[in-house]
Amino acid sequence: MAARRLTSFPGVETTLLPGGQIVLIRPLRIDDIGQVRTIECLAFDDPWPGEWFEQAIASGDICWVAEADGHLAGYLVAMRERVQVHLANLAIAELWRRRGLGRLLVERLIAYARVSGAIRIRLEVRRSNNPARALYRKLQFRTGRILPGYYRGQEDALVLMLTLTPKSETDKPYGLV
Ligand SMILES: CC(C)(COP(=O)(O)OP(=O)(O)OC[C@H]1O[C@@H](n2cnc3c(N)ncnc32)[C@H](O)[C@@H]1OP(=O)(O)O)[C@@H](O)C(=O)NCCC(=O)NCCS
Repeated sequence: MAARRLTSFPGVETTLLPGGQIVLIRPLRIDDIGQVRTIECLAFDDPWPGEWFEQAIASGDICWVAEADGHLAGYLVAMRERVQVHLANLAIAELWRRRGLGRLLVERLIAYARVSGAIRIRLEVRRSNNPARALYRKLQFRTGRILPGYYRGQEDALVLMLTLTPKSETDKPYGLV
């Protein structure tokens, strides 16, 4: 069963996951950064410092959190770069993984990027990050270049791309910015 969008207001979107959890996707706020950093530090060996999240908010980048049943369960940060959108950060708290939240956030980004006229989404992923690679594969991302030693000289990054088809009749603009 697929996730079902319940409501979409400017800046907020509510979805019912197949498991019955209600998920709110809304803009990241400064006062979320403490919780976001907790997830970030557990998810990555090279976590973003809090200031990077602050800068992303201040720069007007795409910064969303997913609240599941009232808990801050994950987040996504992406930048508009001319014709493309760069997905720079995505993490889901361990307790909330494998329930469709990562997919939901990335699908919302794809919808947003398409409606805003971007021609592709790009991201880098560690070669060893099988969960993330499986998620992106499922969403039809294709592997492009390999960046040797991209992560502190120790691990290669794969550049993944999703080419976006032009906006179709059925696309609806999302309330998220
Ligand atoms: C990668 C990550 C964001 C996935 O989030 P998630 O909410 O658990 O993913 P979803 O539940 O939406 O999974 C969607 C699909 O991705 C694939 N997938 C996700 N996690 C997987 C895993 N551990 N093993 C295999 N496939 C996986 C599956 O195809 C899954 O669909 P299914 O559950 O119906 O089989 C999460 O594991 C995470 O936060 N990891 C640490 C941070 C990270 O690596 N971020 C990405 C950096 S590029």
